[in-house]
Amino acid sequence: MARIRKGEGQTALVTGASAGIGVDLAECFAKDGYNLILAARTENALREVAERLAKTHKVTATPIAVDLGAIGGGANLAEAIKAKGLTVDVLVNNAGFGHAGAFNGSDLATQLGMIDLNDRALVELTHIYWPGMLANKRGGVLNVASTAAFQPGPLMAIYYASKAFVLSFSEALWEEARGTGVHVSCLCPGPTVSKFRERAGTGKVRLSQAGGTPMSSASVAVLGYRAWKRNKRVEITGLRNRVLARLVPFLPRTTILGIVRNLQSPI
Ligand SMILES: NC(=O)c1ccc[n+]([C@@H]2O[C@H](COP(=O)([O-])OP(=O)(O)OC[C@H]3O[C@@H](n4cnc5c(N)ncnc54)[C@H](OP(=O)(O)O)[C@@H]3O)[C@@H](O)[C@H]2O)c1
Repeated sequence: MARIRKGEGQTALVTGASAGIGVDLAECFAKDGYNLILAARTENALREVAERLAKTHKVTATPIAVDLGAIGGGANLAEAIKAKGLTVDVLVNNAGFGHAGAFNGSDLATQLGMIDLNDRALVELTHIYWPGMLANKRGGVLNVASTAAFQPGPLMAIYYASKAFVLSFSEALWEEARGTGVHVSCLCPGPTVSKFRERAGTGKVRLSQAGGTPMSSASVAVLGYRAWKRNKRVEITGLRNRVLARLVPFLPRTTILGIVRNLQSPI
């Protein structure tokens, strides 16, 4: 008799599932039998991922192309999901981008765009699906923050702040969900192999040389998925990243600011 998989009959919505960590997170859920809804802007890439994961893991996978950085992008996605007669049990808020450089002279649309995607869309989608999760007493939210969440980030200020928001929001929701059966985890990766660096421009800063070998997106995703299954509040990937993040509260704030400024400085 075929084994019944944990996620059988449930659906996970994964944002930013056209590339990088999101693809691997989607695969973790698919392996456990969750049907998938995959969202990002690039339709072709999404369709390819959906077809591969559906075939490999015998689940349904629905690609939906959407710009979550646009105001109301979360609501548009939810409308499209509803129109297809689908529901969401687990929400994986993974879509995000960073941008390196001083705040002075930066492009305002890019700075606000980080907030719109990394925070606004994440809150919007969570607000839409959270009541249903609580009512069903199952499912939950897996938010992707970053080790950037643990301290301010001079020369990448808005990205760090946007991820601090994700961490704070996720931990608060974890507490609000306590005892309900709904899981909330915040995945905090350090440097990870993906297209992130290309878009963020972080390949040209000292951190890219001092940050250790980047982890693979697959290993980061597995850690995140396992953490979410156990309802682990925060998962920092990799021993080095864990130690550094846990050290931050014990160091003077000005020391931290100096260290991060140095790491975010051009090579
Ligand atoms: N890689 C790292 O070193 C690292 C470290 C810490 C945290 N993170 C976080 O991990 C998450 C995933 O990043 P990644 O490393 O996998 O980067 P990535 O390879 O650049 O993937 C980002 C994903 O987000 C999607 N996306 C970007 N803008 C979007 C928009 N406006 N609307 C909808 N989808 C959008 C992209 O698809 P489209 O371009 O097709 O829209 C893509 O699927 C992000 O939240 C990032 O901040 C990454």
